[in-house]
Amino acid sequence: MARRRIVAEPSKDQTEPLLVVDDLHTTFRTPSGRVRAVNGVSFELKQGRTLGIVGESGSGKSVLSRTIMGLLPSNNVEVTGSARYRGNELVGAKSSVLRSLWGSELSMIFQDPMTSLNPVMRIGKQITEVLRHHLDMSNDEAEDMAVSLLRSVKIPEPEKRVRQYPHELSGGMRQRVVIAVALACGPHLLFADEPTTALDVTVQAQILDLLDEQQRERFMSMVLVTHDLGVVAGRAHDIAVMYAGRIVEMAPTRTLFQNMRMPYTQALFESIPKLDLPSHTRLTVIPGRPPDLVNPPTGCSFAPRCERAQARCLEEQPPLMEAETPDHRYACFYPVGTPEGDEALAENRRRGYQAAGVPVMIQEKAS
Ligand SMILES: Nc1ncnc2c1ncn2[C@@H]1O[C@H](COP(=O)(O)OP(=O)(O)OP(=O)(O)O)[C@@H](O)[C@H]1O
Ligand SMILES: [Mg+2]
Repeated sequence: MARRRIVAEPSKDQTEPLLVVDDLHTTFRTPSGRVRAVNGVSFELKQGRTLGIVGESGSGKSVLSRTIMGLLPSNNVEVTGSARYRGNELVGAKSSVLRSLWGSELSMIFQDPMTSLNPVMRIGKQITEVLRHHLDMSNDEAEDMAVSLLRSVKIPEPEKRVRQYPHELSGGMRQRVVIAVALACGPHLLFADEPTTALDVTVQAQILDLLDEQQRERFMSMVLVTHDLGVVAGRAHDIAVMYAGRIVEMAPTRTLFQNMRMPYTQALFESIPKLDLPSHTRLTVIPGRPPDLVNPPTGCSFAPRCERAQARCLEEQPPLMEAETPDHRYACFYPVGTPEGDEALAENRRRGYQAAGVPVMIQEKAS
């Protein structure tokens, strides 16, 4: 398999952020309490850049994307903070304003591709409806455009495909149609939420390459959401690692891989299948479970699973701190690759760190 590519940095003149997210919180009111799904997220995204958002299941990646897009359920949800797209506030924006942005400015590929396509509508019509609604095209124009969009996402025989129904296409082809629909109106910002989860590995790579290519050709900004750090490795300019509703580390991709500071990022990295390992090698999984988002722990939310955790980590939530490397921030008191981090790890090991992922110091505190 080809080596993973590191994306080239775009020129420095693209300095104006397209999207500025500031202290965004999304809370669901549920019978069992308030679920803090997004808990103070801030980041900026410039035009033409791809931001990878990675984290385990339940870390808030989809809710974050949906909050920015304005696609949350209307009941029992509270959103605070700000998400400005080209200077326009999206949080609390009227639905008429959001509707005018969807498709032509902001677009999203949803996590489950099967639910994105209408099973009883021909492929061509699913695309022409979008085009006619947003771009006010005639029938003929929209039909021509649908064919050329299918061609641009490398669907063979597009003239034939427009007359077919989703079930007549393979999973990979359906996902290409979903991408064509999302790109139909030429959005400037695309959220791709686990765009390849349901596909096998070879098709996954093709779809990710296609998204890459479209992002570059259109100079679009893209938020690529995945639970797999390996997926964003060669495709994102920057990576944000999410844990329990927060960004816990964020950096340009190369910096993150060369200089990761957050033990959670390191654990995610170690769970990426390595091609050079013998085939019988067991994959590392991160021991323990993510915290309850209704009653999150007082200190660092990763502490109960962290092999470096010390008393301070249980008591105090580490803020996002600036690393020495540019544009790199992390939330950890005992970071990877630092003397204090190494000492914390050595100390826990001396005291009999348990393989179950619960440092002995925490077991002592609990008993
Ligand atoms: N409508 C809702 N009501 C209550 N809780 C919700 C709702 N939607 C999401 N959540 C909760 O918010 C948290 C974050 O969910 P989210 O779907 O964003 O996770 P994710 O990181 O996208 O996970 P995955 O990788 O499995 O897609 C989860 O604990 C989830 O149960
Ligand atoms: Mg999700």
